[in-house]
Amino acid sequence: MISPSTSDPIGSDLDPNKPRIGILTSGGDCPGLNAVIRAVAKTGFWMGYEILGFLKGFEGLIDPIQYAILDPVNTSDILSQGGTILGSTNKGRFGGRAGASGRAEIPSEIIDQVRHTFEKLSLEGLIVVGGDGSLTTAQQFHEAGLPVVGVPKTIDNDLSCTAYTFGFNSAVLCCSDALDRLHTTAASHSRVMVLEVMGRHTGWIALHGGIAGGGDVILIPEIPWSYENVVAKIEERKRLGRDFTLIVVAEGAQLPDGSLVSQASDNLQVKLGGIGHVLTAELEQRIDQDVRCVVLGHLQRGGGPTTFDRVLSSQYGAHAMRLIVQKKFGDMVCHDPPHILSVPISEAVGALRTVDPHGSAVITARAMGICLGDTPGFVNPF
Ligand code: F6P
Repeated sequence: MISPSTSDPIGSDLDPNKPRIGILTSGGDCPGLNAVIRAVAKTGFWMGYEILGFLKGFEGLIDPIQYAILDPVNTSDILSQGGTILGSTNKGRFGGRAGASGRAEIPSEIIDQVRHTFEKLSLEGLIVVGGDGSLTTAQQFHEAGLPVVGVPKTIDNDLSCTAYTFGFNSAVLCCSDALDRLHTTAASHSRVMVLEVMGRHTGWIALHGGIAGGGDVILIPEIPWSYENVVAKIEERKRLGRDFTLIVVAEGAQLPDGSLVSQASDNLQVKLGGIGHVLTAELEQRIDQDVRCVVLGHLQRGGGPTTFDRVLSSQYGAHAMRLIVQKKFGDMVCHDPPHILSVPISEAVGALRTVDPHGSAVITARAMGICLGDTPGFVNPF
């Protein structure tokens, strides 16, 4: 993480002649965060702005205020780096609590402290790089009259109003790479391999990673499935002379009885994970074949961004600066291919963007004979 300013009093190292904005990264990290930070630092520099990077998500905004002055030099070598030089958290004073509206409400005294920081540091705007939860916080800043813009981040690709969040493509690569590796060992040992991937309550990573990595069965939250149908696919492959099977299961896929497999939960969200092992144990009872489980976990969030995510993150960062200059506060950058545009943050948060069970990726999977777990055999989707 970059070192915070040690100026005393706080803000005494700032340039009084420059307009100034802030940027922070919040929530779970993902590949491409540093590419956004770099794009904002560079774009802002050329536009004559001073850019403050607040540390540890929203926490750096309030006592103790923690920022680093970003410029093209101290952000020059971070394009390909995973994580975030600003640090991040999905806990702390901005974790919020479920209010009457059902959203995580930030206490008014916390928002007042943020307002004080804006005034103290003469911030003309703040770029919040985050997923659904962090952008809900940004929306509350906007409703309180603070000038914010949003950038959609998450490996889950579950934010509304944008075709892609950055980080998703990198996570899909991680998933397909894992399947490539599992393929050879599964084939060598005639095994069934179960790969559990992230994605929270949507199946984007499982579906795209599964197609990209040659999965035979893909189980996602949007399509109910049964053990019988999965077993039927394994047996069908055997009849075709393929005595191994690759199964991709999204962490948020419900079991056939409708339940989610989770490890724990706090007041705000369920901590998903474990369905891979449940599925593996059940298949071991039902088939006469070795079954092994791999949980891909946080590997999907680590490492550097793909070239697609580097370009997308750079476009998002530059466009966020454009929104600041145009004073389009309360908006979130979005990708409406081939355009980079913006929409009100309020439209993007709140409703998950789920996989369309009748969309082109699902149709493609079905057409190639990939089992989605809802039919016992091939069904022509065209
Ligand atoms: O939202 C990104 C994500 O990686 C999800 O796919 C996953 O369910 C969750 O975050 C894991 O969160 P944590 O890092 O808190 O375990």
